[in-house]
Amino acid sequence: MNIRFDNKVVVITGAAGGLGRAMVENFAACGAVVAACDLRDTKEKLTDLMDKGNIHCYDCDVSNVQSVSAAMDKIATELGPIDVLVNNAGINVGPDQRKTIENFDDQWWHNIQNVDTDGVYYCSKHAIRNMGENGGVILNISSVVGLVPLRNQCSFAAAKAAVCNLTKAMAIELAGKNIRVNAIAPGTIGIAVTNELWKNDDAMKTLLAHIPQGRQGTPQDIANAVLFFCSDYASYITGAVLPVDGGWTAGGYARNF
Ligand SMILES: NC(=O)c1ccc[n+]([C@@H]2O[C@H](COP(=O)([O-])OP(=O)(O)OC[C@H]3O[C@@H](n4cnc5c(N)ncnc54)[C@H](O)[C@@H]3O)[C@@H](O)[C@H]2O)c1
Repeated sequence: MNIRFDNKVVVITGAAGGLGRAMVENFAACGAVVAACDLRDTKEKLTDLMDKGNIHCYDCDVSNVQSVSAAMDKIATELGPIDVLVNNAGINVGPDQRKTIENFDDQWWHNIQNVDTDGVYYCSKHAIRNMGENGGVILNISSVVGLVPLRNQCSFAAAKAAVCNLTKAMAIELAGKNIRVNAIAPGTIGIAVTNELWKNDDAMKTLLAHIPQGRQGTPQDIANAVLFFCSDYASYITGAVLPVDGGWTAGGYARNF
């Protein structure tokens, strides 16, 4: 299998984050014209990747429809019609804000819905109208928490479940336009934030006991699955949600989380 994206315009949101950076590198290595989007200072944050391929940086707040609409138009004008959109930008509450629903902070509820759910809606809507006649691919990053909810992060659980069903709704609406829409649900992936979250060794041991493969995933594990789903090798796959989680969801409910 030789996955290539030569001259394909690939838009990645949340591109400066842990998973986003791995996606930028992967697509660039496969010949894509990468539009790397993040909330602010995107170019500064990705300076070290600039010699890895054909990478262009854009600031775009996915929770703001004007920002999204302007960015998607700019990308299509500067780089050409959009072939692939990866809706990767996302936020969750940090350890200090993880609370049961009756104590959950309302502002955090809305912040997460605005980025994780509205962002997928806005970016998809405005990318689609900037795709060419041959269609394209949309890949949404959900979470295992959107499939099997954990305690104390109700907004994230709701938002990521919405992303899974929105993926299916878009897939059936857009199949006739030759636009495939899929989602990946990562388990726990080793990036700065999750490493900080699990630096308490006991918590980490308990978490890893729920994961049949017994380890966190790497950003590359997710970026590789993204690459496949967005490639022509996945041409008959649409409306699918793929857990990439070391077997976490195969075992069901993570009792202590
Ligand atoms: N790391 C994990 O364990 C894990 C597990 C499941 C799902 N995910 C999902 O993977 C995706 C990537 O997360 P990550 O782990 O790389 O986290 P991260 O925090 O490293 O990256 C997220 C990126 O999104 C950007 N972002 C935040 N708000 C934004 C906005 N309003 N507009 C544009 N960009 C914005 C941030 O600046 C950041 O660069 C997210 O959707 C996350 O929910 C991650």
